[in-house]
Amino acid sequence: MQFIRFSDLCAQGQAKGKRVFIRADLNVPQDDAGRITEDTRIRASIPAIRMALDAGAAVMVTSHLGRPTEGEFKPEDSLAPVAARLGQLMDRSVRLIANWVDGEFSVAPGEVVLLENCRLNVGEKKNKPELAAKLGALCDIFVHDAFGTAHRAEGTTYGIAETAPIACAGPLLAAEMDAIGKALANPKRPLVAIVAGSKVSTKLTILQSLAKNVDGLIVA
Ligand code: 3PG
Repeated sequence: MQFIRFSDLCAQGQAKGKRVFIRADLNVPQDDAGRITEDTRIRASIPAIRMALDAGAAVMVTSHLGRPTEGEFKPEDSLAPVAARLGQLMDRSVRLIANWVDGEFSVAPGEVVLLENCRLNVGEKKNKPELAAKLGALCDIFVHDAFGTAHRAEGTTYGIAETAPIACAGPLLAAEMDAIGKALANPKRPLVAIVAGSKVSTKLTILQSLAKNVDGLIVA
């Protein structure tokens, strides 16, 4: 599958000194007190962040957490616990930035900041063009690394890819695209796909598309 890879841009020195915006999927489960109960998604987002830092970029990371009401901040929707866990895992400080859409914050090359829950921004869910334009203006390179949210056409997963100067796939997304490309390009037959997880009702288009390419489809 042909697409621009962040790893290639970094290897070519294109990220040095640049503002890199990484859309990760840090939508982790929490208990009633807001404690993170499983942090696989945070760990999985670290290779892209390290890649950007090693390449000399100023790094912004964002994610959604749950399904908050746009424009209405509530403490339980905050990425604060995620910023703390990310900082712990990376052994560095990760500043959490609120109200970031208009770019009224600074981030230096070699620094990583976490931008507060992107679904609090008005227009995110419906990918409003005004929001997409502001998102694109925040960065030189947009890195899509949110595999778990790649099926949603929202502001930070889709709109920004159209407005940022460069849009590319991060290592997590690239690995998944390589794997599915390989599985569908020239598979041994019969080919059976097993789709697991919740929220099946919102993945119908993906199931329809898969169904055209496989001999059997199991929804678990
Ligand atoms: C998930 O947990 O399934 C992903 O983060 C996507 O979340 P969403 O269904 O709220 O878009």
